[in-house]
Amino acid sequence: AVRNFSNSAVMANAIKNVTVIGSGLMGGGIAQVAAQTGHNVVMVDVDDGVLSKAHERISTSMKRVAKKKFGDSQEEANKFVSDSLSRLTTTSVKNADLVVEAIVENIDIKQKLFKQLDEAAPEHTIFASNTSSLSIQKIAQNAKRKDRFGGLHFFNPVAVMKLLEVIRIPETSQATTDSMIAWGKAMEKVTVQCKDTPGFIVNRLLLPYKMEAYRMYERGDASYRDIDTAMKLGTGYPMGPFELSDYVGLDTSLFIIEGWAKEYPDEPLYKVPEILRKLVSEGKLGVKTGEGFYKYNK
Ligand code: 3HC
Repeated sequence: AVRNFSNSAVMANAIKNVTVIGSGLMGGGIAQVAAQTGHNVVMVDVDDGVLSKAHERISTSMKRVAKKKFGDSQEEANKFVSDSLSRLTTTSVKNADLVVEAIVENIDIKQKLFKQLDEAAPEHTIFASNTSSLSIQKIAQNAKRKDRFGGLHFFNPVAVMKLLEVIRIPETSQATTDSMIAWGKAMEKVTVQCKDTPGFIVNRLLLPYKMEAYRMYERGDASYRDIDTAMKLGTGYPMGPFELSDYVGLDTSLFIIEGWAKEYPDEPLYKVPEILRKLVSEGKLGVKTGEGFYKYNK
């Protein structure tokens, strides 16, 4: 096959070794899919307890993926899981071509992390944040390698959702963007590009939609069950806005919308609905705590 120069440059720099900082739902999911697609993955987190929990969750999810992929051959399914798991380890940042950060959504902590990583990582390493709502430009503030910095925003559950948003800041180089897109393809995701604007594409549309759904319920216009039914059967969405909120976590929605409300006080779409504050203050965060709008068996 004929390869043009820029393609071969991408090939020569193809991302093989990946470090994921953070082993929660997103970090763990990203590490899982990277390992499943042949990348060597290093997952970093604060302590062994958190990491072993993540490892357990990943192997459970991998078995589901394997069952789907190799339903008729237990042997192939087992091999897929053990090969994938064998590519997933925990060591230092020194070996990374790419660092995907998926830690807590706190700007100060992210800035500090990237300052340390910038000093520790090799020259060529690309840094990316999986932030849902914070500015990539601000996250990159203390890192010198701004040309090798961007956003890679995945969706929950990462093993299922096909989309990857690739975000560039003004300093992000074309080579970095090309590498991020090529890696997205290697992860078997469909990539879209977006500037560093609040919520990028999906959350910029999804958050106001969910907030409007809460307001509709608060006004007593319809029950949350009926709103969910309407959006599923009327538009073909897999989950209604309340089910989806419970699935993602109400604390996550509240965190994002509070941040935007503070930054854009005149935008009525970003006003924080009372019901959201109330449920979160009662510890009703959704599926993960056993109750949000709906109740769940833990
Ligand atoms: N790991 C691996 N596979 C999984 C999985 C997981 N964690 N969760 C579900 N699956 C697979 C199942 O094995 C099943 O496979 P099959 O079709 O071959 O049997 C398939 O996905 C469907 O799963 P279920 O039958 O258990 O349940 P559903 O049909 O209800 O699907 C869902 C679950 C995929 C979560 C679907 O309801 C959905 O797509 N919901 C919307 C999710 C969404 O909108 N995510 C984006 C949230 S916003 C976000 O992440 C941004 C962030 O910044 C906040």
